[in-house]
Amino acid sequence: MTTNPTLTDLAHKATQARNRPAYGHDALITCDRLVRIFTTDGVEVQALQGLDLLVREGELLALVGASGSGKSTLMNILAGLDTPTAGAARVAGHDLLTMTAKDRLAYRRATVGFVWQQTSRNLLPYLTAAQNITLPIQLSGARTPRRAQTERALELLELLEVADCRDRRPHQMSGGQQQRVAIAVALANSPAVLLADEPTGELDSHTAEQIFAAFRTANEQLGTTIVIVTHDQAVAGEVRRTVAIRDGRTSTEVLRRSEVDATTGHETLVAREYAMLDRAGRLQLPKEYTEALGMRDRVALELEPDHIGVWPDDSDRD
Ligand SMILES: Nc1ncnc2c1ncn2[C@@H]1O[C@H](COP(=O)(O)OP(=O)(O)OP(=O)(O)O)[C@@H](O)[C@H]1O
Ligand SMILES: [Mg+2]
Repeated sequence: MTTNPTLTDLAHKATQARNRPAYGHDALITCDRLVRIFTTDGVEVQALQGLDLLVREGELLALVGASGSGKSTLMNILAGLDTPTAGAARVAGHDLLTMTAKDRLAYRRATVGFVWQQTSRNLLPYLTAAQNITLPIQLSGARTPRRAQTERALELLELLEVADCRDRRPHQMSGGQQQRVAIAVALANSPAVLLADEPTGELDSHTAEQIFAAFRTANEQLGTTIVIVTHDQAVAGEVRRTVAIRDGRTSTEVLRRSEVDATTGHETLVAREYAMLDRAGRLQLPKEYTEALGMRDRVALELEPDHIGVWPDDSDRD
């Protein structure tokens, strides 16, 4: 039998919660009730509807969601290419709503790197792989000596296993090689965050795996925080954290951790699904769960000492 928590227990818990540090204080990326409204021909589209997201330094995170759910809108905001209508967004100490045009340019050159789906959008066609990487270093204004620029380019090409492409132009490389060089270009100025919007969308599944391995290498060897938008379930299944966006809001998260079987010694990834709880206490239950139990409009709740029970509405049953 479970005992119901006493009022003193609840009051104690509430005080503990209030004393916790402010939302996102230790995160590298903080999105707080982010809103982006597009208006075309007088028609409003709410692409982001109060999205909350925290990403800590060193994370490799996959972002998934149906077409039109707001993934690219979020990535463009984080990349500094678009500005939110309301809410707050901070990346590595930069406030994305109040940044001046000059700060924004510096932010795009030094703080974030991005890789797009279209291989042709990532590289300049008339430059070699090595030149594509040294260009952002020259544009950063850091006055890096030419030799150090070339060394950096070769180091990155080697890390991502495309050193043989150093003197080739994009049309002399495969799509997979181009995307790996694109990752090297994005990493040229050692950004705090690497953003990728469907980077494997134009590639077959084997090549997509290689590209994903390149992102993992960057995350593990360089410690770069990475956010990847993907439709690829295989990719989403391999990262420790997958965040799902639904209707312009983060809805559920899957966290995976490795567990070693005590008897066999085998390591497996154990996944657990979480729902986002916003500060108003709103919770979005996964559709598969609510449909399975026929829940709609209203549900019955019960507070237990260590969990909250949610049942289908039984108020009309006697
Ligand atoms: N520049 C824009 N002007 C008007 N509406 C836009 C603009 N960009 C996006 N939208 C709208 O905002 C919503 C979210 O679009 P977004 O591109 O972020 O979705 P997505 O999740 O990236 O989809 P996909 O998986 O198809 O790439 C859509 O309804 C889209 O039509
Ligand atoms: Mg998109």
